[in-house]
Amino acid sequence: MKVICGPASKALAEGVSALTGFGCVLVASKVFPDGESYVRLEGSVQGEEVAIVQTTCPPLQDGKLLQLAFMVDAAKRGGAQKITAVVPYLAYARQDKMFLAGEGISVETVARMLKASGIDELVTVNIHSEPALEKFPFPAKTLSAIPLLAEYFVQKGYKGAFALSPDKGALYIAQQAQKVLGGNAGHLDKQRDRNTGQTVQTAQGLKVKDQTVIIFDDIISTGGTIVGAAKILREQGAKHVFCGCVHGLLIGDAEKRILDAGVEEIVGTDSVPGSVSKVSLAPLLSHALKAQN
Ligand code: R5P
Repeated sequence: MKVICGPASKALAEGVSALTGFGCVLVASKVFPDGESYVRLEGSVQGEEVAIVQTTCPPLQDGKLLQLAFMVDAAKRGGAQKITAVVPYLAYARQDKMFLAGEGISVETVARMLKASGIDELVTVNIHSEPALEKFPFPAKTLSAIPLLAEYFVQKGYKGAFALSPDKGALYIAQQAQKVLGGNAGHLDKQRDRNTGQTVQTAQGLKVKDQTVIIFDDIISTGGTIVGAAKILREQGAKHVFCGCVHGLLIGDAEKRILDAGVEEIVGTDSVPGSVSKVSLAPLLSHALKAQN
């Protein structure tokens, strides 16, 4: 197998190559003056199985998606035998249903576009809703980076901390963290108005007084969810509040607002390279690619 280092995830792809021993294919990329993307594989993939590592996080997620499709096409034309797209953050995964009349299902459109470009299978990380993958026109799986995030906190001395998810649907995430942290787990409740996007968070029967609490979530976008959760935890008397999230998009001033709300540290992964991407997905992705090779 060879690892194609997508421009959006070059460091991560090189990490995967180093851990697996699979050779790296670098990619030249540029944006033309009119805004169109260009990519060129700088090594041979003739007869190879390839893993193209390319995240599709903001900013410019549409361009990153197109770069991915163009790399897939280039690999196919270059004679690759099998193409696995490794997309740590899959853009549009949250539009996985028709929430309102007149909408489409964006994530399915993205999957069909990737199929048309030539991918054979897809690996992603903590996709917002796993059932969305069942509608993809190729085998697709999602890995969980939550144990790696929890391990980060164990290494920092927070073994036994309370693992909290910001809503009931994400309790399984808190429970994955709990297995590593060894403390208790629980959830808040969150209701979202589909028209305004406004959310209301509440805590029912949560006992976190004097405890160290780590909020785990798949995505931080505007930060509103974590800010709201942190406020509730402070009101409930939590002693320390931390946050572990897989995809730290941190749009606008989200990072500042979360820290101002009393969260002592935000820890994310390199699915979204940036100020909080302190945990690398390289071991997780390497393990998955080795298992399929
Ligand atoms: C939603 O259900 C997700 O799991 C996240 O909680 C959400 O996307 C975070 O968005 P924001 O940071 O804008 O509150």
